[in-house]
Amino acid sequence: MKRRVLIVDDDAAILEVLEMRLTAMGFEVTATSQPQQAVDVMTAGRFDLAVLDLRMEPLDGIQLMERLHARQPRLPVLIMTAHGTIETAVEAVQRGAFDYLTKPFVRDELRAKIRRALSARRWARDRERLLAVGETFASSGVMERILDAVVQAAVETTEAERAVVFQLTSGRLVPMASAGSPPPSWSALETAAARAIEKGAPMTVPGAESRVIVAAPLVVQRGPVGALVIETPARVEPTEDDLELLALFSSQAAIAIRNTHELERLRSGALAALGRMATQVAHELKNPLAGLRLYARHLEQRLEKGRDVESADLARKVTSTVDHLTAVVSEITAFGRPPELHRAPTSLAALLDECMALARARCPSEGIEIVRSYDPACPEAQVDARELRKAFLNLILNGLEALNDRGRLTVGVLYTAEAQTITVAIDDTGPGMGDETLARVFDLFFTTKPDGTGLGMAIARSVIDLHGGELTIQSSPGHGTRVRIRIPVGGPAARPEAEEAR
Ligand SMILES: Nc1ncnc2c1ncn2[C@@H]1O[C@H](COP(=O)(O)OP(=O)(O)OP(=O)(O)O)[C@@H](O)[C@H]1O
Ligand SMILES: [Mg+2]
Repeated sequence: MKRRVLIVDDDAAILEVLEMRLTAMGFEVTATSQPQQAVDVMTAGRFDLAVLDLRMEPLDGIQLMERLHARQPRLPVLIMTAHGTIETAVEAVQRGAFDYLTKPFVRDELRAKIRRALSARRWARDRERLLAVGETFASSGVMERILDAVVQAAVETTEAERAVVFQLTSGRLVPMASAGSPPPSWSALETAAARAIEKGAPMTVPGAESRVIVAAPLVVQRGPVGALVIETPARVEPTEDDLELLALFSSQAAIAIRNTHELERLRSGALAALGRMATQVAHELKNPLAGLRLYARHLEQRLEKGRDVESADLARKVTSTVDHLTAVVSEITAFGRPPELHRAPTSLAALLDECMALARARCPSEGIEIVRSYDPACPEAQVDARELRKAFLNLILNGLEALNDRGRLTVGVLYTAEAQTITVAIDDTGPGMGDETLARVFDLFFTTKPDGTGLGMAIARSVIDLHGGELTIQSSPGHGTRVRIRIPVGGPAARPEAEEAR
């Protein structure tokens, strides 16, 4: 793709010479002697460089440059000037021109300054954006943040209308981050992403209303994990630079996704090992705890008989503490040995109501507004109600505990017929979580609560995983927490592709 240069000079002879020289240097040249016409030309398309005469009517070179910059802020501009107007040329540079050229031209000066302007422009904008993405990488391990920075950078450097990162999840393309204006057609972007992934290389396809869509696959060692897609404004062809930049940003997005996958793998490996250890320890504790409970009960009864009320009360406390320990131990045992699922048709709305009642009995919730929004079209799901109850109960309890008897808890069920999935949403207006908590929320025994065991989320995720579903959390300090659970209506067998993306 040739780079586009705009030349504006009211001197026809100079205009002709410049047009010839720049065309010979391999540029696609648009030349005009009318400054106003130059502004119109800019509106229709983007340029890589503008060479403007300083002395022109009715707009001089500096005024014209400012109008052009209003449309394309980073356009490098070279101002041409005759000797004697050097000071104004210096002023032009101060007001945003890249450099100036003195007339009559010295051949090598023209060539050198144009080359410098083009490479400096690239360098400046690439460096700035790469730095921004790099800083996000360094300061945040959270994939969503990095992908946000990547799409933002892609839009700014390529001057595209929009950029979207799609991630390949369970055989589907899921938009993970987007920047710029909302697309006129998501499916066109998604199709381009799918084709780029299939081809394994960047590709260009026509978009709506003479826009151009460019998609670059995100490739890691194991294969494609998604695609970065940009859509240019109408009638703007992406340049070689744009394609190179897109490849660069797509590799950053790919690394962010790969890191997250690796981390998840490491975590689940470590979790499995920890789970086995915890199960063994729990097993060892079970019998002594049962003995302890028996002795404490004996003691309690004896003291009651002897009417030693105070000591009997102490014994009761021992019993109830032992009961609590026994409950924790049996939860750990259950966690370490995932159960066989006993699936039966179940109404998730009814199950949620049941959990809500249970959770409210356990946690003060007088001051909490509860909002239910259940999709009446939602069919029953093939799930293990007993297991799923554990997951829902833990998530609702977390929501109520986060609210601290103040705020709103929203529980929703939504059916998606095309995907044959049910989405359960549990949102609270509590304090939310910082990156640190969010990164560790599924870790076994991770808790920030004085009386927490840190098992709730780990249990919830393992139950949802067993059902072939997906549990995601969105949370940030001060903005509450959104938990989403996607469950296949007919169990994982209905969606065989769910396995392969893991
Ligand atoms: N809705 C939420 N809002 C804010 N923080 C939350 C929320 N859900 C979970 N967390 C954070 O995640 C941590 C882990 O949650 P998890 O349910 O695994 O354990 P826990 O609630 O601390 O203890 P328990 O085992 O009793 O559930 C919590 O301590 C809390 O810091
Ligand atoms: Mg909890």
